[in-house]
Amino acid sequence: MNIILLGPPGAGKGTQARMLVEKHGMVQLSTGDMLRAAKDSGSEMGKQVADIMARGDLVTDEIVIGLIAEQLDNGADESGAIYDGFPRTLGQADALGELLSSRGSKLDAVVEMRVDDEAVVRRISGRFTCGGCGEVYHDDTKRPAKPDACDNCGANDFKRRADDNAESVRTRLMAYYKETSPLIGYYHAKGLLKSVDGMGDISDVQAEITSALS
Ligand code: AP5
Repeated sequence: MNIILLGPPGAGKGTQARMLVEKHGMVQLSTGDMLRAAKDSGSEMGKQVADIMARGDLVTDEIVIGLIAEQLDNGADESGAIYDGFPRTLGQADALGELLSSRGSKLDAVVEMRVDDEAVVRRISGRFTCGGCGEVYHDDTKRPAKPDACDNCGANDFKRRADDNAESVRTRLMAYYKETSPLIGYYHAKGLLKSVDGMGDISDVQAEITSALS
């Protein structure tokens, strides 16, 4: 099964993608994670995208489509993929359709997670992640059982993202409404869109997604 999780920054796409991976053994393809890894590695491409990401603007289609194509060439989606944060423009959506069909594959569903702007800001401002395994936490809604150890891998290496500040969140929201929200109509027209209420707690949203996909 190939699924896209579509929603504004901080909607909970990464959180739900990780839960789907655990439940169904699929692979999570997050262009945000791939770009942050490139940045941390100090590669040329990583240097090129660092300022764009810190501002909250979108990286070029060419770069992110290249990252996804590389993953598919390496067979990353053999047991199904969850696209998290990709596609984000109509150009990326067309490219994904072409990449999949050239491999005899297709998209099965696009899950739109509906979350209002105030919740987005609350969620992003309390977010921290484990540097060891990427598990996502929140100051109010999802704290690790022990304050100095990740529930998942035990590491004591929590990080906050450079782009999780008020100015960048505003830019990211603008980019979402301008460039990404047209994908809702695009996938609706293809009969692939499932919309879920992303405002509930993490397990409620998980149940909504499970039901939308069944
Ligand atoms: P990316 O990393 O994709 O960021 P994003 O889309 O802004 O999404 P986030 O990771 O911020 O949020 P999320 O929806 O995954 O929420 P999460 O689960 O963490 O992209 C970063 C940047 O990279 C972009 O700005 C751009 O520059 C570039 N980029 C990436 N992909 C690109 C592309 N395709 N094209 C061009 N540029 C690209 O949850 C957030 C918080 O809320 C957490 O603390 C979590 O614990 C909490 N939470 C989750 N669910 C709930 C819930 N139901 N109730 C309460 N709290 C919750």
